[in-house]
Amino acid sequence: MQTDLSERTALVTGAGRGNGRAIALELADNGASVVVNDLESERAASTVEEITEAGGEATSIPADVSDESEVEAMVAEGMEALGTIDVLVNNAGVGEAGPFLDRDDDGRFQLNLDVHLWGSIHCISHTVDGMVEQGYGKVICITSIHTKNGVGMSPEYDVGKYSLLGLTKSLALELGREGIRVNAVAPGWVNTPMTEGFTDRTREQITDLNPFGRFAEPEEIAEAVGFLAAPASDYINGHELRVDGGQMPIDSWKYDNR
Ligand SMILES: NC(=O)c1ccc[n+]([C@@H]2O[C@H](COP(=O)([O-])OP(=O)(O)OC[C@H]3O[C@@H](n4cnc5c(N)ncnc54)[C@H](O)[C@@H]3O)[C@@H](O)[C@H]2O)c1
Repeated sequence: MQTDLSERTALVTGAGRGNGRAIALELADNGASVVVNDLESERAASTVEEITEAGGEATSIPADVSDESEVEAMVAEGMEALGTIDVLVNNAGVGEAGPFLDRDDDGRFQLNLDVHLWGSIHCISHTVDGMVEQGYGKVICITSIHTKNGVGMSPEYDVGKYSLLGLTKSLALELGREGIRVNAVAPGWVNTPMTEGFTDRTREQITDLNPFGRFAEPEEIAEAVGFLAAPASDYINGHELRVDGGQMPIDSWKYDNR
């Protein structure tokens, strides 16, 4: 999507690869200065290299979004380098999940909540004051096809994404009064490293239930994020924009996992 974000600074978490990388490139292509975060410093640096090679402005700041002190330091450094964060994209995510009946501890629940929910809370907490002060901001949370109807045998991920959707809806009501739009983009299944390990049978199970018969490409997710970051969407708030080709959720990973 072509828009003018040249006056804007964006922070994209988990932007070293996959959807986050494509989102950072999309925002930079439209003129935004981008703070590229990732847990893995080399990944973040490589996205920044791509942006700067294309003539954009970006800085890489590695941090674990689930650690509030790291987020606080990241935002301070990002604002020092590029100015107030106008657009925050809570994209960092993990795919660890499995059948509830096969769990052996609660570590995967904790991880999903720590990254998807608490990571987003930390990033919003440390960027929101600047947005309130200027009376404008955009928060875009990456949810999932999993919030369409849940997906069996991945309760940890579902809990992570549904809680993030709850946060999105609630903050849209409160922060909208301050000029801050809070929305979500819900991808279907996307060709990223997160889905690389899916077996052929799982892929078939998914594409059989997709009208286009294919996964999305990360750039298709990034286009939607670009729209929600743009002035053209300024009256959209509290919305979860599905970018899933009309995908029906699969009921479970039963063919591979049990
Ligand atoms: N790929 C899909 O099919 C799909 C579908 C729906 C939603 N999503 C969501 O899209 C987002 C991106 O997924 P992806 O497919 O690009 O995944 P990915 O695994 O390819 O990339 C995720 C990136 O996030 C980083 N990351 C993980 N934990 C982090 C943390 N604590 N702090 C900072 N960075 C962290 C990783 O290092 C990695 O570079 C996630 O929120 C994911 O849940 C993905």
